[in-house]
Amino acid sequence: PRRVLFDTDPSPDDAVAFLAALASPDELDVLGITTVAGNVPLELTTKNALKALELGRRTGVPVYAGASAPLVRKLVTAEHVHGRTGFDGYDLPEPTMRPQAAFAPDAIVDLVMSLPARTVTLCCVAPLTNIALAMAREPRLAEYLEGIVLMGGSMSEAGNITPAAEFNFYVDPEAAARVFGSGAPITMIPLDCTHQALITDARLEMLRKAGTPVGDAFYHLLEFNKRFDRSKYGWAGGPLHDATVTAYLLQPDIFEGRHVHVDIECSSVLTLGASVVDWWGVTDKTPNVTVLRSMDADRYFELIFGRLLRL
Ligand code: BDR
Ligand code: CA
Repeated sequence: PRRVLFDTDPSPDDAVAFLAALASPDELDVLGITTVAGNVPLELTTKNALKALELGRRTGVPVYAGASAPLVRKLVTAEHVHGRTGFDGYDLPEPTMRPQAAFAPDAIVDLVMSLPARTVTLCCVAPLTNIALAMAREPRLAEYLEGIVLMGGSMSEAGNITPAAEFNFYVDPEAAARVFGSGAPITMIPLDCTHQALITDARLEMLRKAGTPVGDAFYHLLEFNKRFDRSKYGWAGGPLHDATVTAYLLQPDIFEGRHVHVDIECSSVLTLGASVVDWWGVTDKTPNVTVLRSMDADRYFELIFGRLLRL
């Protein structure tokens, strides 16, 4: 199985991403979970990661708490989407598991560098603060990774936190820019894909019908999300953003994309955190990212909910 590390700021779509990976041991070996401030402050994203692991009965995986704020900016959170706890909609018990003592960026460096080169993939579904800090601590990290598969950015879908920017990049644009400039092989799954992956009532029904604790909890957690996306966008359901990363690792042919150059805007007030994708190759900048632009949403939900419900 491919070795992976998840860097996350759990809201429910994050939890689906790493739980579906943990339910796929033939393909993926989840070495650990690192948490970062994003959707809600660090204390809550860490607590939510632990709650999700206990729900899925995968308590053997180590959890490391990381950065509580972006590299240089004030933290922006998303309680307007995921509620005050980041996990509103279903009351999961207080976790009994505890995070490890190590700081997440240190744990990333130590785990990756202790294994053979190019055998660990970082799965990033949150602001990229921990990854940028790890790269600053160990400059060889980027070339030592097998790759980075991340959810973030937007090409033709505009922004979901400002008119120009997607949330994960907007929260820590300097971190995103450092990671994109690092030379690591990056696959980016932007809103262009995830806005095709809507959690409709029929898809949610798969979870409810299962009648398991995991199915039941995620039915309610994702149902809560939907209220926001319905009223705000008028869509049939909210996008299940982050599990696209797991789906790509399991079945890459669900997605289509191109290897192109991407820069992250760090200075403009209007377009801060925007991902500028040279889709048509109009510059002579060397491609640094594979950008996935479309996906088969039916196959995605069948795969991901199928894996989640194994737990
Ligand atoms: C991203 O923002 C978060 O709210 C989601 O978990 C996802 O990582 C989508 O813009
Ligand atoms: Ca996330």
